[in-house]
Amino acid sequence: MALKKLVAGNWKMHGLSSDLAEVQAIAEASRQYPDVDVALCVPSILIERAVRAVPGFAIGGQDVHHSDKGAHTGCISAQMLRDAGATLTIVGHSERREAQRESDDEVCAKAQAALACGLNVILCVGESLQVRETGKAIETVVAQLEASLPHQATEEAELAIAYEPIWAIGTGQIATSVDIAEMHAAVRGRLGARYGGAGEEVRILYGGSVKASNATEIFQIADVDGALVGGASLKAADFMPIVAAAAEARG
Ligand code: PGA
Repeated sequence: MALKKLVAGNWKMHGLSSDLAEVQAIAEASRQYPDVDVALCVPSILIERAVRAVPGFAIGGQDVHHSDKGAHTGCISAQMLRDAGATLTIVGHSERREAQRESDDEVCAKAQAALACGLNVILCVGESLQVRETGKAIETVVAQLEASLPHQATEEAELAIAYEPIWAIGTGQIATSVDIAEMHAAVRGRLGARYGGAGEEVRILYGGSVKASNATEIFQIADVDGALVGGASLKAADFMPIVAAAAEARG
């Protein structure tokens, strides 16, 4: 069963007021592709302005705290993201797992807090180059997924998984089609084991150096239900061909 594709941009620590024109260009051009869900996860401080600039278009955060409020200097709750107009958030990106030392338990708690608040979640998993080279990529990612997954699938908000090999992020390298297919099948298997039939509905995105030149090939792979795109999501001219490739892949 083919799921509707989701192409989400992860702007990371990029984006000023002057970049809202790109948000507008992406939202405007995305209307041509009603069969693809398109979203942009922008820096939290830009969310409210982005939402005002493109009402109805999916704007998301890049992280969320697991508590609803409290003494957590510098952190942002799911309710705050919702209040700013976000409809989704990324959790467990490898850059945060590494730099902020986020554990699987924390990622799980973040995902649960966001879903409970009605935010759609893109939960990231992925292996390092060292793990890939020692032949342990699948067991490592499956274990990471198992420990990070929210305990229950919710009806109020949607969970998606992004498989992002760490060594492919921002490097121009991508995993082979065979490796992607194998990993996505393993992820699909775990989702089924955890959520039963509902696991079939969870979209599995690929991420790591996705761009116009490789998107068509990636979207043809079984169980690739979209992409999480970093560098190539900053400009409409780079991002929209990826959305177009997702639209083509459906047909
Ligand atoms: P990239 O980033 O497309 O620039 O490799 C992807 C990501 O980190 O989500």
